[in-house]
This record gives sequence, structure tokens and C-alpha cells, in this order.
Amino acid sequence: MKLFLDTANIDEIRTAASWGVVDGVTTNPSLVAKEGKKFIDVLNEITKIVNGPVSAEVVSVKAEDMIPEGRTLAKLHKNIYVKVPMTTEGLKACKQLSSEGIRVNMTLVFSSMQALLCAKVGAAFVSPFIGRLDDHSQTGMEIIAEIVKIYRNYSYKTEVLVASVRHPVHVKEAAMLGADIATIPFSVMEKLPTHPLTDLGLDKFLKDWQKVPKA
Ligand code: G3P
Repeated sequence: MKLFLDTANIDEIRTAASWGVVDGVTTNPSLVAKEGKKFIDVLNEITKIVNGPVSAEVVSVKAEDMIPEGRTLAKLHKNIYVKVPMTTEGLKACKQLSSEGIRVNMTLVFSSMQALLCAKVGAAFVSPFIGRLDDHSQTGMEIIAEIVKIYRNYSYKTEVLVASVRHPVHVKEAAMLGADIATIPFSVMEKLPTHPLTDLGLDKFLKDWQKVPKA
């Protein structure tokens, strides 16, 4: 399973990347706005740190504008994936960009039928937002199960990228369901390596080691 970091914060990306567990990065306009830096500068920094897919989102709403915007983003670096919103305009843009060899990440996906359409227009990634569904009393993980099943039924190549992850159980469930990727905020990523029993166990080993006679 691939783990992406869902952030535009360079310190967070540098830290998690140093652990060797970051396969890619996803950004969105809200995450970029929090950093107070120019979008292009943020993307340049990220692509220097992480050697894997980096999602950069278009902000146009009409396909005729999304397409040139996507082309410009894709030209910035070989690892840029163009994030396009799941609208009918987005589907048109995805179809065109994909036909040009530009990898598209379809975002703001909230149903398996939206995901089916994303696969049909050649999206490289589909991003279902599970946390936001949970926020509305719908179990987000259910649509991950549906999408994984539908994509396997028809051998679609589109990878399922679980987004809007809020806690480690989301990551575990995504992995159990066979999702290809989870994109994780740093606050969740830093919880994954830790367990109080690991700390207690290490403490005891180090204390006991003091009792071993040294040469
Ligand atoms: O990057 C898209 C997605 O992961 C956003 O998550 O927490 O704002 O719903 P969230």
C-alpha cells in the first residue's frame, strides 16, 4: 500500500519523508493557502523532497480552462499529477488530459458511481473523501469497499486513493479493503509508528542492559 502525505507543509513533508514512508504528496487549495507561499514555490519544494506523485489541483471550473491549467501544472515536474474536481466539466478535462498522457487525480469524490465515471475517463487516481462522509453520518469506508470491488470487476487501472483521512483506523480499514493509496495528514502519520508498549518495552530492554556485565 502506498502512503501519501496530505499537506503542503514543507517541514511536515521533510520529517515524514526522513522516516522512509512517504510515497507521494497530495495538496489542495485549502492546504496551500495555509502555508502563505506561492503555489509554484510549494510544488517546487515538495518535488525536491519526495520522489513520487505530487498532486496539484486546478482552480478553474470549466473544462476549457481546466485543460490548459492542468497542462501548465503537469509541465512543472515529471511527478506532478493534476487534481481535477469531480464535476461533468472535470470529467471532460480528465478525458482530454489523460489522452495527452497527463496523470489526473479526480478529487471531491463522494460516491462509487462518481468513481466509476472517473475510471471511464482514464483517471490515474480517484480520491474519495471518507472523513467528510463520516462527518455527515455516512460511513465513508463503505464507498471504498464499493469502489475497490467495482474497479476489480472491470480491471480498471485507476488507483483508489483514500482521502480525508482523520485517524489511524481509517488507514487500517483502507489497507484491509485493498485500497491502493491512503493520503494522510501529518497529525495521523505521526501516530502510525507509535505504541505505548513499544516505548515501555524499549525502556525495559535498556534498563536491563545496564545489568549485563561489561568487559
Ligand atoms: O486533500 C483532500 C482531503 O484529504 C481533504 O481532507 O480533512 O479536509 O476533509 P479533509
